[in-house]
Amino acid sequence: MRIVSGIQPTGNLHLGNYLGAIRNWVRMQDEAQASGGESLYFLADLHAISQPHAPAQLAANTREMVAALLACGIDPAKSVLFNQAQVPQHAELQWLLSGTARMGWLNRMTQWKDKAGKNREGQSVALFTYPVLQAADVLLYQATHVPVGDDQKQHLELARDIAQKFNNDFASADKPVFTLPEPIIPPEAARIMSLRDGTAKMSKSDPSDMSRINLTDDADTIMAKVKKAKTDPEPLPGEKAGLEGRAEASNLVGIYAAMAGSSVEAVLGEFGGAGFGKFKPALGELLVTKLAPINRRFVALCTDQPALDAVLRAGATRARELAKPTLDATYAALGLLRG
Ligand code: TYM
Repeated sequence: MRIVSGIQPTGNLHLGNYLGAIRNWVRMQDEAQASGGESLYFLADLHAISQPHAPAQLAANTREMVAALLACGIDPAKSVLFNQAQVPQHAELQWLLSGTARMGWLNRMTQWKDKAGKNREGQSVALFTYPVLQAADVLLYQATHVPVGDDQKQHLELARDIAQKFNNDFASADKPVFTLPEPIIPPEAARIMSLRDGTAKMSKSDPSDMSRINLTDDADTIMAKVKKAKTDPEPLPGEKAGLEGRAEASNLVGIYAAMAGSSVEAVLGEFGGAGFGKFKPALGELLVTKLAPINRRFVALCTDQPALDAVLRAGATRARELAKPTLDATYAALGLLRG
């Protein structure tokens, strides 16, 4: 079992990241250890330069994101935690895979289409080739499982396509260069939606901070955001089918279920018939209770910048070791001489 996943350090860790991915990272680091496997988690700082950014902000966000991941339970004694920029093999492998990835495949990526919008010509080349770097991130370590939210599923499918084509073109069937990674997407909370619009996903790039719960929000802010969350005038239904066509209600019930470790059915069993005047305070309380310990740890960790940098340095040293055999095999398979 080789678990690999990443997150862009472009802002705060929010509830979507936590429920969609990071919670699974924490669970899987223990599973990997128990089975004699390994887990690698990284800050995708190289991905973050695909869109306009302020350099000082990126450096600050990278440190802040390490603190957030540690606060959520990622343990450097159990997982390899690092940032891409300290492991040059990611960028190197991206180039080697660029000969295999097809323009047509990248053109079909919905994230590219969404982010580029009508202005494709004005986008950076990095935004277009972003999924090739993401493929390199996982293939470099022979990842078997990649815990992500639903929005990253297509990128993972592309990584599999690249791996398969490379193996077909440059390796023998009994000795493939790359392992095909499996995306691990949580059955519940795979797609947490904005608190202001139940049809848009909760995202760091939403200009309204009211649209998301950040893991750094204090109790008052969380309660205020939940109270102001968009809803409809109907009471909650007693059955799951009654949530159909009610995107905002469905999102809030889903968040409650994921946070409480229960199911949508069980939450509706408890709150069916109740209005949002009753449900929202209960959801706010639950979020505050569950997130307060993470928040406390986060604030404490942020005060020790040298310790955060040391975690990244140690993680990167180990990641470079783990990356070496696959990168060597890739150069060799392509017929590239290196002395
Ligand atoms: P990023 O930084 O946008 O998000 C990090 C993780 O959080 C999940 N996520 C969500 N899950 C549920 N609901 C939401 N509203 C929500 N928003 C975000 C994402 O699915 C992701 O798992 N390209 C990636 C980072 C990356 C990566 C990789 C991931 C780079 N290389 C290799 C896996 C493997 C990204 O921008 O995620």
